[in-house]
Amino acid sequence: MQTLINVSNRLPVTIGKTIEKSSGGLVSALEGLGDRYDFIWVGWAGGSVHSRSEREKISAELEDRFNYLPLFLEKEEVKQYYTGFSNSSLWPLLHYISPYARYAEAWWESYQRVNRMFADTVAERAKPGDIIWVHDYHLMLLPALLRERIPGVRTGFFLHTPFPPSVVFACHPNRKELLEGLLGADLIGFHTFTYLSHFRSALLRILGIESEIDYICCDSHKTAIGVYPIGINYEKFRQEMASDKYDRCLDDYRKIYAGKKLVLGVERLDYTKGLRRRLDAIEQYLSRYDHTEDTVFIFINVPSRENVPEYQDLLADIEAKVSRINGRYGTIGNTPIHFIHQSIDFSALCALYSLADVAMVTPLVDGMNLVAKEYIACQTEHPGVLILSEFAGAAQELPHAIIINPYNINEMTEAIVSAFELPEAEKQVMIDFMKERVIKFDARYWADSFISDLTTETDPARMPVSTTELPSQVLQTVFEAEKIVLFLDYDGTIADLKRRPVEAVPDDEINRLFKFLEADPRIETYMTSGRKKEDMDQWFGRYDFHLIAEHGYHYKLRNSDQWEISDPHADLSWKQQVLDIFKHHAGMTPGSFVEEKTSSIVWHYRNTDPEYGSWKANHLLATLSAMLSNLPVEIRHGKKIVEVTSMQISKGIIMEHLLQEQSFDVLLCAGDDETDESMFRAATPETISIKVGAGNTAARFRVAGPGAFRNALRRALEKSFSRKTNL
Ligand code: UDP
Ligand code: G6P
Repeated sequence: MQTLINVSNRLPVTIGKTIEKSSGGLVSALEGLGDRYDFIWVGWAGGSVHSRSEREKISAELEDRFNYLPLFLEKEEVKQYYTGFSNSSLWPLLHYISPYARYAEAWWESYQRVNRMFADTVAERAKPGDIIWVHDYHLMLLPALLRERIPGVRTGFFLHTPFPPSVVFACHPNRKELLEGLLGADLIGFHTFTYLSHFRSALLRILGIESEIDYICCDSHKTAIGVYPIGINYEKFRQEMASDKYDRCLDDYRKIYAGKKLVLGVERLDYTKGLRRRLDAIEQYLSRYDHTEDTVFIFINVPSRENVPEYQDLLADIEAKVSRINGRYGTIGNTPIHFIHQSIDFSALCALYSLADVAMVTPLVDGMNLVAKEYIACQTEHPGVLILSEFAGAAQELPHAIIINPYNINEMTEAIVSAFELPEAEKQVMIDFMKERVIKFDARYWADSFISDLTTETDPARMPVSTTELPSQVLQTVFEAEKIVLFLDYDGTIADLKRRPVEAVPDDEINRLFKFLEADPRIETYMTSGRKKEDMDQWFGRYDFHLIAEHGYHYKLRNSDQWEISDPHADLSWKQQVLDIFKHHAGMTPGSFVEEKTSSIVWHYRNTDPEYGSWKANHLLATLSAMLSNLPVEIRHGKKIVEVTSMQISKGIIMEHLLQEQSFDVLLCAGDDETDESMFRAATPETISIKVGAGNTAARFRVAGPGAFRNALRRALEKSFSRKTNL
């Protein structure tokens, strides 16, 4: 049986005199997976004061009884990693409440340490072929740590909170490390498409990584991304509502609340849940309408993160507001707000859900909000009405609720009135629609679809394959070759793309690769670039390479000092016209600039706002196609550039031209953008043509990025070079 290692901050257990397994949503969602996988759960055991002997005892019991592997945190780690970094820095920011986000360098140190501890614990158990599923914001660095440490496993990450707009996430001092940590995963899941879009935008704006709607091409692998709205364990609620205990609870509450209209709210006492504003709306309702005698608002607010100052302030505020409202609107016969700052028994919760005429779920933002779905699931007695914030993930699945903006107090007040006035038949229709969805897309469905996507190999034709090695038949051909010709593009193929072209200067690793290429007498290298010949001389002139500049307009053979022009008759009379268009366009697009070369004009937009830049590029392409249709030019949309060049010039044309005089056993050409496609198209079927990165291509092979390409090239050549020299 395959092993599935589930990793979350907390283990679902309560450790007191005895150890009790808790029954949260995640536990039930994952229960079904236990039939198909050898299921292990890694997480913090909770608390912080365990002696060594106690820890050993707890570990043994947890492993024996449940297959749980506990981690134990010291007091200081709980303070810095959990209360500090996770709940005082990340939590507010992930919920778009940046003014609450605090930061301390020591918290970050601790967060990294604890993530490494999790990685150590997982690494002790994991073996190639295992699946690892990491949950939530406490462990954002873990996927990359696992990728480094444990080869051959597939790692999924699910974020249970929202992911904020990129400008909000960008405020975090460790934004880059956190995103890079997540990108170690093979699959990252979100509750809604909005969060997925925010995440993609953060990748683009913070790391400069472009992504497709369903995957990201990283240097050595591909990370899939997807939307998986979590559901509830409907079966558990159904069974509970068939129990005697539930019936007794329901009877009790019916008596207590006889003749009252009940409005229920259930949540952890958290500032994201919109409690202050809900109380404002209730106060307004009580002041405007004469229902003080017959309406009861129940607040079940489970204590949460009580060491975080913002939660302490919230509690003080809520207590003060509740008592003020009750003092003002309470009567001998009724106290309008019943505030319960405790968690309640499951049967009691189901009975309250079932009895409440209205549920108010009013978060300012919430990843999903299970309470909304649980309330729907429990509507068996009479149809209730759900008032739901548009900023809860659940709102995207439950449009038949009364959807409100929790920042609009009037709207919330009016929603309470409408909820009471809705005809029964209409309420029933609304509930039926929502219930059908809640039942079908339950917790198990959520877990199954995530794991199924994590374990399904993606279609290689659609997704770039991450590979650091070329197929064995190709390696064999290279190995047997007496003469190998390489046509290599530089930017984006050998070197990573940089914000400014001058920054892509060959570093130590690239220089070592170049020395290695020139040391092998079988290899002849053509460095093929869109750059100017002066750049080529400066960066590659000291190597024994042929140089091709401006996509083939200039070339210099390795035993010559002279740059040649490939086609002296190429028509360049269009340049001034294009230059004028480009300059005007650059003026209108902050961050972009124009580069003039001998045979082409280039508009660079890498440093513009990424979305605006792409839009302007498309606009420019449309203008150019219309205006230049009669001229002998080719318009290319490369990586963050638009280039107009002579039609008589291309990397493919120069490659064919220079190879006419050559004999060789293997031709390998590689490139990353549209300008390289002419080489791939000009290649024979035997050519080893390699596309670096994502996108459509005529090349035979693909590697994920420049790092992967450098490795693949070195490994292919190294093997054959060392074997040959040994012979
Ligand atoms: N809940 C609980 N005890 C209570 C009240 C509520 O365990 O006394 C549960 C509730 O049934 C729900 C969960 O707490 O499953 C809250 O999940 P939700 O997604 O609404 O919010 P979160 O706490 O994850 O922000
Ligand atoms: C949210 C988070 C969970 C967390 C839960 C309770 O639902 O997404 O990861 O477990 O709140 O918070 P706590 O801090 O008590 O674990």
